Amino acid sequence: VGSDDFAAGLLAWFDGAGRHDLPWQHPRSPYRVWLSEIMLQQTQVQVVVPYFERFVAALPDLPALAAASLDEVLALWSGLGYYARARNLHAAARACVERHGGGLPRDFDALLALPGIGRSTAGAILAQAWGERFPILDGNVKRVLCRYHGIEGWPSTPKVERQLWQLAETHLPATRLADYTQAQMDFGATLCTRHAPSCVLCPLQHDCVALRTGRVDALPTPKPA
Ligand code: ADE
Ligand code: SF4
Repeated sequence: VGSDDFAAGLLAWFDGAGRHDLPWQHPRSPYRVWLSEIMLQQTQVQVVVPYFERFVAALPDLPALAAASLDEVLALWSGLGYYARARNLHAAARACVERHGGGLPRDFDALLALPGIGRSTAGAILAQAWGERFPILDGNVKRVLCRYHGIEGWPSTPKVERQLWQLAETHLPATRLADYTQAQMDFGATLCTRHAPSCVLCPLQHDCVALRTGRVDALPTPKPA
């Protein structure tokens, strides 16, 4: 098990073109990674950044979040939308105080058991906070994998999704898991975009099945009507 061309290409691209100045990267802590991942679930990076900074200025660590009132948390979230995320965040912080000694658990199943954390978010937290070897699979990553491997079928059908998790697992590098996780997000958001991906600049262009077979615009397969 180790780095493959996909991971090596993404990491090399990330060094030159990825985002290295995001506030949750400096300093990187489990709490800050978790908070950023919850905010980023339904909101774009440039919108999240000022909310993130305001939030951690008021509530700098998990015990502070757990001790805050729900009203205070909702006020800090105000404007970001999808307020269930804020309620889950607050409930999860209190669960961590009760069950995990006031810290986020470094364990996949324990993370998954917390409100607001699904399989991809748990992986993103483990990889970025602790460098653990876990995959992520959000909309951007699904699009990249479908193109790179030339996979047909709407990516959110159970069969295709299972295949994509398997591929995501296979591509995991042996090291630099935090950078690799951010690299996938940045790559999908800025280079292998939904419309008009920049294939001529792509570090994966020589191995990309969609490019080789002229299916870049057709993949991923749209949701059936
Ligand atoms: N979406 C989810 N997590 C993200 C991250 N760390 N950077 C950019 N977009 C994301
Ligand atoms: Fe995406 Fe184009 Fe790169 Fe293939 S060659 S991974 S479609 S940007």
